[in-house]
Amino acid sequence: MKPWKTLATSHAPGGSLLTLQQRDVEFAIRVDGKTLMSSRSTGSEEAMAEAACVARVPRRVLIGGLGMGFTLRAVLDRVPASASVTVAELSQAVIDWNKGVLAPLAGTPLDDPRVQVIARDVRKVYKSGPFDAILLDVDNGPTAMTADSNDSLYDDHGLALARAALHPKGVFVVWSAGPDQRFVKRLENAGFTASSRALKRHTLFIATA
Ligand SMILES: C[S@@+](CC[C@H](N)C(=O)[O-])C[C@H]1O[C@@H](n2cnc3c(N)ncnc32)[C@H](O)[C@@H]1O
Repeated sequence: MKPWKTLATSHAPGGSLLTLQQRDVEFAIRVDGKTLMSSRSTGSEEAMAEAACVARVPRRVLIGGLGMGFTLRAVLDRVPASASVTVAELSQAVIDWNKGVLAPLAGTPLDDPRVQVIARDVRKVYKSGPFDAILLDVDNGPTAMTADSNDSLYDDHGLALARAALHPKGVFVVWSAGPDQRFVKRLENAGFTASSRALKRHTLFIATA
């Protein structure tokens, strides 16, 4: 098998090292050497977007974490032409990579006129709510990975902020590599009606305001 080739590196706000690597047609983004995502392991992004559209089709959507744009593509394929989809991405480098070498992976979703991408921590963008749906995929689960400060996205205060950023009939979907029953409880304590859904390999936490 061919070795991984490093295409670019960048420090995320907070100091962790983001690395973009390629091997044949596969791309990976790593944080301090650990895999944050791979272009080979997609599919759960579709499930995330579906979960956000179950009760009603959202018109104002916030996505936390651009990654390689798969969640964004899955949302764009489900929302109407009049929808607005805001993507908050912590790293300007990740946005630049999506305008360059990563652009074709998810069919150039940043070119869609419904999309606004902001180089900011998703927490700061909560203030622009209310959103009909917030989709959060910034770490490998409800524990900080990309930046230490991300832990505060999943604590009681962070969840209260997410809930306040939602329309009363809105939905909050959080991606995770695996189950975490305590996180479901924490969502409930924050006033959400919450459940977890096991996918083939990953888990989604789905919470309604
Ligand atoms: C696992 S990837 C997202 C994958 C994405 N769902 C996709 O479809 O490609 C996580 C992304 O979230 C970004 N990120 C991490 N913490 C963030 C935060 N607090 N606010 C916004 N973006 C963040 C990372 O830089 C990375 O691009």
